[in-house]
Amino acid sequence: MDWGMKNRLAQLIQRDGKVLFLPIDHGYFQGPTNKLEEPGKTVKPLLPYADAIMLTRGILRSSIDPENTKPIILRVSGGTSMARKEELSHEGIITSVKEAIRLNASAVSISIFVGSEREHETLLNLSNLVNECEEYGIPVMAVTAVGKELEKREARYLALACRIAAELGARVVKTYYCKEGFEKVTRGCPVPVVMAGGPKVESELEVFEFIHDGIQKGAIGVNLGRNVWQHDYPVAMIRAIRSIIHEGATPKEAQELFDEIKSGEKK
Ligand code: 5RP
Repeated sequence: MDWGMKNRLAQLIQRDGKVLFLPIDHGYFQGPTNKLEEPGKTVKPLLPYADAIMLTRGILRSSIDPENTKPIILRVSGGTSMARKEELSHEGIITSVKEAIRLNASAVSISIFVGSEREHETLLNLSNLVNECEEYGIPVMAVTAVGKELEKREARYLALACRIAAELGARVVKTYYCKEGFEKVTRGCPVPVVMAGGPKVESELEVFEFIHDGIQKGAIGVNLGRNVWQHDYPVAMIRAIRSIIHEGATPKEAQELFDEIKSGEKK
């Protein structure tokens, strides 16, 4: 592996081998998502606790101070909207590799839709992006999005999507956690796996438990958005999650930390 690729991966994957990525890219197809109407404001208090942020070039330029030194994972696939839900898997490449270099991205991310009508196109998008990014030493993170079959979030489907992403050259793969057989997902994927959170859930303990379990079963951390910044106490949330990922806290210890920080954080 060349120095540039190694160095970018080292910016993302911390010395303990773990990661806490904070995605704020949801607007690229959802528009002004709840609590992400002003992404710059949302992310500011959370940045010190994230290892990297994932976003589009538009939000990076408009909402993030260029003096920011947190690594950037630039979302480079899109071109769809919630207004045409049935076509969400019809993504193309929306940002060039030259632009990613200009923006000093540490990695780029792209969605693939295994199990959808557009499976083939999105897998070729990933392959072509990897071809180009490898030339410049830029890691590609594949986002295994949820096609019809994958909606079931079963280990069998998640493992299929993750393995294909790795086979096509992704350096990191983002997937969803599943209660049954998640270890099969990570074991079958020869590159690091990170977990997304999905829609906000009711109790924070549920989030702490799945992150803890996913890490025990081989994930290296999270790329988790809504369950942090849609929470009434986002700083307490990200700090508690950080304690699980980087300090080996149990879900119970994370809950205690959350409660302690929450009492000092404004709603
Ligand atoms: C949106 C994404 C998100 O970055 C990813 O799903 C993680 O966010 P969340 O934890 O809110 O699900 O790729 O398409």
